[in-house]
Amino acid sequence: MFSLTFLPTFGLQLLYKAVQSSDEENNRPEASGHPGLLKTFPRAFLRIPRLVLVLLVLGVFAYLFSILSVDGRFSDLRVYNNSSNSPASEIGLEISQDTYINADWSKFAYTQYVTGKDYLCNSLMIFETLHRLGSKAERLMMYPEQWSLESNSSEADLLQRAREDYNVKLVPIHVQHFAGEATWGDSFTKLLAFNQTQYERVISLDSDANVLQPMDELFFLPRVPVAMPRAYWLNNTLSSQLVVIQPSKQEFERILYAFEHRQNTDFDMEIVNNLYGRDCLILPHRRYDLLSGEFRGTKHQNYLGSTTEVWNPRQVLQEAKFLHFSDWPYPKPWIAGDESIRIDIQPACHVTASGEDDCSDRDVWNEIYREFKDRRQYVV
Ligand SMILES: *[C@@H]1O[C@H](CO)[C@@H](O)[C@H](O)[C@H]1NC(C)=O
Ligand SMILES: *[C@@H]1O[C@H](CO)[C@@H](O)[C@H](O)[C@H]1NC(C)=O
Ligand SMILES: *[C@@H]1O[C@H](CO)[C@@H](O)[C@H](O)[C@H]1NC(C)=O
Ligand SMILES: *[C@@H]1O[C@H](CO)[C@@H](O)[C@H](O)[C@H]1NC(C)=O
Ligand SMILES: *[C@@H]1O[C@H](CO)[C@@H](O)[C@H](O)[C@H]1NC(C)=O
Repeated sequence: MFSLTFLPTFGLQLLYKAVQSSDEENNRPEASGHPGLLKTFPRAFLRIPRLVLVLLVLGVFAYLFSILSVDGRFSDLRVYNNSSNSPASEIGLEISQDTYINADWSKFAYTQYVTGKDYLCNSLMIFETLHRLGSKAERLMMYPEQWSLESNSSEADLLQRAREDYNVKLVPIHVQHFAGEATWGDSFTKLLAFNQTQYERVISLDSDANVLQPMDELFFLPRVPVAMPRAYWLNNTLSSQLVVIQPSKQEFERILYAFEHRQNTDFDMEIVNNLYGRDCLILPHRRYDLLSGEFRGTKHQNYLGSTTEVWNPRQVLQEAKFLHFSDWPYPKPWIAGDESIRIDIQPACHVTASGEDDCSDRDVWNEIYREFKDRRQYVV
């Protein structure tokens, strides 16, 4: 904030000084007696360099100001912290700074899959965030092979921006269509992350979500085929919203087999739970898988993992790295929601022990949606 207010003030001071000194010149005794055009014209001419200087200075300040105010758009929601320098110790992984700096980051990637335009925009937003927050790993987007990169469609435009602006590797894939249910196509496409054997480890992230901090430390987990957080809002289920995967031919074959033998009610979440639910490495859901709907709840012991810890929405948002949008019946944030539904379902305020109104759940929840909507305009 300092720089934002300081720059224009400083610019104005310069302008004020310049105007003042030209006034002084006008008021010089020899000038005041002869205010004719012929006399003032050369003087005005002499003053031009100073005027040009002032305009240049103002131009530079205006330019800096415009850059800073683009960043300022993110400033209402102060969760975008650049923590990629010291994240590992937070989950007890002892990774030395050297390991971190010298790692071969080309072996690691965040993966996203897209099958439609809305999700392509979401995915671009996730990659923009990883890029902006200084994540070191590669980025990979699986997209339908029939989307031509050369066409002038908006899909092609977004794919090219992903590649050029955020260093995203684009992998065309064959999106399978399954009779009846469109969602199976999505589930199948998502599971193709297991087939990206050009990487040692990938993090598959759902894209109806926000990355609040990079998760690069997860690439250094002990070697296991799969690591997932618990779906803390369900019993005995792991969440496939964030999955750390060691792609391999064998695991992909298991996935394909499970997919071919799926039940009608099985989607990617059921498939990975059936295959890995008993044996995989469990990531702390706290930090790695927060639902936006948590801010609307009144009981938080499942999320906190404690019945005594006091719920503090700002602190929870501050520590979280991955936030998934889930507030049914309120729509996902890229769909224009009915204002009356928002007002109905937004978190309630409550009265604290000291008798004050506490609306921090409501404020945080509304900020999360507002920030996403603003950023979508800016990024896409
Ligand atoms: C960012 O992280 C640092 C170190 O973890 C912390 O001291 C600082 O308060 C954080 N800033 C914001 C705006 O959250
Ligand atoms: C975040 O930190 C990385 C270095 O770890 C740096 O390259 C990047 O520019 C930083 N990003 C921001 C927005 O400060
Ligand atoms: C793409 O280009 C063709 C001609 O080159 C034009 O007719 C068409 O309207 C363009 N489509 C879009 C979406 O810009
Ligand atoms: C899995 O990857 C291999 C090697 O890149 C590729 O040939 C194959 O088509 C992929 N399988 C599917 C189902 O996409
Ligand atoms: C989870 O299990 C507990 C006790 O077994 C039960 O009270 C609760 O309703 C279950 N929750 C869900 C979401 O199924």
